[in-house]
Amino acid sequence: MKEKIGIFDSGIGGLSVYEAIRSQFQELDMLYLADEAHLPYGVKPKAVVRALTLKYIETLKQLGATWIVVACNTATASIIDICAEDTHVIGVIAPTAQWALRQSKNQKIALFATQLTVESKLYEKYLSPHLEVAINCSQLVPLIEQMNFSSQEIDTLIHSYLQQLQEADTLILGCTHFKWIRPMIAQMAPSLQLVDSGEPIVDLLKKRGFQVQQDGSSQGKSVYYTTGDVAKARHQLEKMHFYFDQIQNME
Ligand code: DGL
Repeated sequence: MKEKIGIFDSGIGGLSVYEAIRSQFQELDMLYLADEAHLPYGVKPKAVVRALTLKYIETLKQLGATWIVVACNTATASIIDICAEDTHVIGVIAPTAQWALRQSKNQKIALFATQLTVESKLYEKYLSPHLEVAINCSQLVPLIEQMNFSSQEIDTLIHSYLQQLQEADTLILGCTHFKWIRPMIAQMAPSLQLVDSGEPIVDLLKKRGFQVQQDGSSQGKSVYYTTGDVAKARHQLEKMHFYFDQIQNME
């Protein structure tokens, strides 16, 4: 059976994980589901996020996904028990934390994440005792969704968050949306190693038996589903230079 990966996020953050997977496994058929109707997840109660995440994992399975990548730290934090039980449901938190531990030279790591992710203390669990500080950066998510990545407002917030770091040499972008402002963070803190979830997830998929295919000989199909407005999704994808074979609405 040909594998099909379903990727889930509240919005455009998981596209960073989609991009990393697509660049390595070109022949794979992929589905992307963005729950734009309920974004942001990071400031919602955990039970609400869990119900939405379980619903859309089920939807992706019904659409034929044989593997699910929950490309959202917040959603992962709400269903971490399911990720432990079902090897075909992959969350981003554990692989990203392990990756950061391998990257850090002084073993002092900082985290930018949403409120729900920070409060779940899961990064703390996986990184203990190496997590220096976990910062609630939920305010960035709606700004990133507006797609004006280099705004003054975003710059000011990043600056205030970075001031809370002390000795950490590695910063986890523990919200997949933050990949899109990675260049701004890198510019403000050039000595920090930045870790996002793209590479760790690709690495994990290789360990689960996925074969790299980059020669362009066969190209898998990509379908984008949004619970929000299709015209808005089309605009966002165009602006970010993503190509999907189909863009569809999802209840
Ligand atoms: N992209 C999601 C994450 O990785 C969060 C965005 C949201 O708050 O909806 O946590």
